[in-house]
Amino acid sequence: MVVLGIESSCDDSAAAVLRDGRLAASVVSSQDAVHGPYGGVVPELASRHHVRNLLPVIDAALARAGVAVGQVDAVAVTCGPGLVGSLLVGLTLAKGIAQRRRVPLVGVNHLEGHLLAVNLERPGDPLPFPFLGLIVSGGHTGLYLARGAADYACLGRTRDDAVGEAFDKAAKLLGLGYPGGPVIDRLARDGDPKAIRFPRATLKRARFDFSFSGFKTALREYLGQHPASAGALPDVAASLQEALVDMLVDTTTEALATTGVERLVVSGGVAANRRLRTRMGAAAAALGVEVFFPRPAFCTDNAAMIALAGAPRLAAGAHDGLDLGADADLAFGSRWSP
Ligand code: KG4
Ligand code: ZN
Repeated sequence: MVVLGIESSCDDSAAAVLRDGRLAASVVSSQDAVHGPYGGVVPELASRHHVRNLLPVIDAALARAGVAVGQVDAVAVTCGPGLVGSLLVGLTLAKGIAQRRRVPLVGVNHLEGHLLAVNLERPGDPLPFPFLGLIVSGGHTGLYLARGAADYACLGRTRDDAVGEAFDKAAKLLGLGYPGGPVIDRLARDGDPKAIRFPRATLKRARFDFSFSGFKTALREYLGQHPASAGALPDVAASLQEALVDMLVDTTTEALATTGVERLVVSGGVAANRRLRTRMGAAAAALGVEVFFPRPAFCTDNAAMIALAGAPRLAAGAHDGLDLGADADLAFGSRWSP
């Protein structure tokens, strides 16, 4: 079965081809240069660029896979959560292809894609259930328990900003450009993570939820009192990164101990962060938990994970109608209870 995957939930236009469960091509067109001057994604610009980029990206993925559009057996497309204008561009194109080629269409939850992305590197050998997934990106931060196929529970998620957004806003305050995560990661290598103590938010009543907005305020206040000279930047970067990593590692460790699962997947753009990889690896090892980080190209937004997440439903003969809608706040997973 040849599945065409389409993803346009945020600022990356992506298409991929999955042939019999194996990735045949994955193409991503980044809009970082478009949004860079604004220090964050501008929704209206994102959807306009999807209109321009998505069709050539789909053509490129098909060409790279050596597949003609007539050979596509099914289409899997992100239907939420994300920016509604961006989602609509991908969804409309996917419906057009499905209707014209008379092939089934399935809508995929973007977060299910992130959670299962780890299996792109394990064709024929999917990660056994149950496993815990920490999704950390520019748009999302949440902890999910994958109990079985299509059986997910949400332990907690951010109450305000996503952790990637916290990295991006910190970089903006420091005048470091967009996206901020990679720059802070690089600068932090030469800094002391203990140089400055930024606050770590803990939410007493919802212990698996996250909050990053107080961190941003604390950083702004700190910089108001201590304008960061170029020489001080590595220490500031290392210290703020340590605060964000601490919040992720502490909450995830507690969730691992509470659920008792033995496998952890960390996915999303922030999973590329070196300090997070080291610290999470050590914390998981101390609990006897095996941790999996998909390779960076599968951690960031891509359509391969969307095709992969949609494929089992398509193979089982399920599909969505052409009335499938885009849902900016599409929920993922049932509410978890111990
Ligand atoms: O998954 P992604 O490509 O797009 C979204 O769905 O948001 O994630 C992008 C986010 C950005 O906020 C970026 O700053 C962050 O991931 N990021 C990083 C690193 N690489 C990317 N954050 C921290 N350290 C990194 N090395
Ligand atoms: Zn994402």
